[in-house]
Amino acid sequence: MSQAPLSIPRHVAIIMDGNGRWAEARGLPRKAGHRAGAETVREVVDAALEIGVDFITLYAFSSENWKRPQKEIDALMKLLERFLKTKGKEFMKKNIRLRSIGQTERLPESCRARLASLEKETSENKALTVILALSYGSREEIAEASLRLAQKISTGEISPDHLTTELFAQQLDTAPFPDPDLLIRTSGEFRLSNFLLWQLSYAEFFISEKNWPDFNKSDFHEAVVDYSRRNRRFGGL
Ligand code: IPE
Ligand code: IPE
Ligand code: MG
Repeated sequence: MSQAPLSIPRHVAIIMDGNGRWAEARGLPRKAGHRAGAETVREVVDAALEIGVDFITLYAFSSENWKRPQKEIDALMKLLERFLKTKGKEFMKKNIRLRSIGQTERLPESCRARLASLEKETSENKALTVILALSYGSREEIAEASLRLAQKISTGEISPDHLTTELFAQQLDTAPFPDPDLLIRTSGEFRLSNFLLWQLSYAEFFISEKNWPDFNKSDFHEAVVDYSRRNRRFGGL
């Protein structure tokens, strides 16, 4: 008997959580967990590419993560810088485009420069778009979008009568991308932690008990298969 083809999510968003707990369980410093987590990113990006997902958004650093001890922030920024520095060749070879969302102006200059150059270098790539959420907070994003709209209304560029949800979405950092179809969160936590509040309105959720460094290709496949069995109704029948 032939099986119905899997419906592949066009956009997968991931809250990569549990690096610290993974390290603590092994008696290692938290930064060892972040380092191991960066390896998982590589594996999951490859899996997304193989499956034929078009967009993958990775929550790498939240606006609230600036509250962490400076030592941990420094380690995370160093890892980010190294990630950006070493991905150019690979992303060009695999035809991957890199984009970012969030208040990236708050990142150290070394990271901002690497990010800008990798975004530019990969801008024409087509196989998969990897979107890094960096210094990202959904409430901040929504507040900034509102401010931009208010300014456009006050200058008369747009009329308040024309304000629609589509027009609002066009002011968000995520304007160039479709909404995520599937949200994955690791480490067994059931919360959004200020991630894509607007954009996840109709996403399907998949919670993995594994900490992010233990998450692998086959877990990603499992999430996609689980997604393909869901009945998405979008409020209709
Ligand atoms: C996720 O792992 C990575 C970031 C938030 C940067 P955590 O660092 O939150 O790990 P836990 O949740 O403390 O285990
Ligand atoms: C969410 O994880 C942010 C990222 C994965 C980058 P957190 O570990 O910061 O979230 P909370 O504090 O458990 O809600
Ligand atoms: Mg966490």
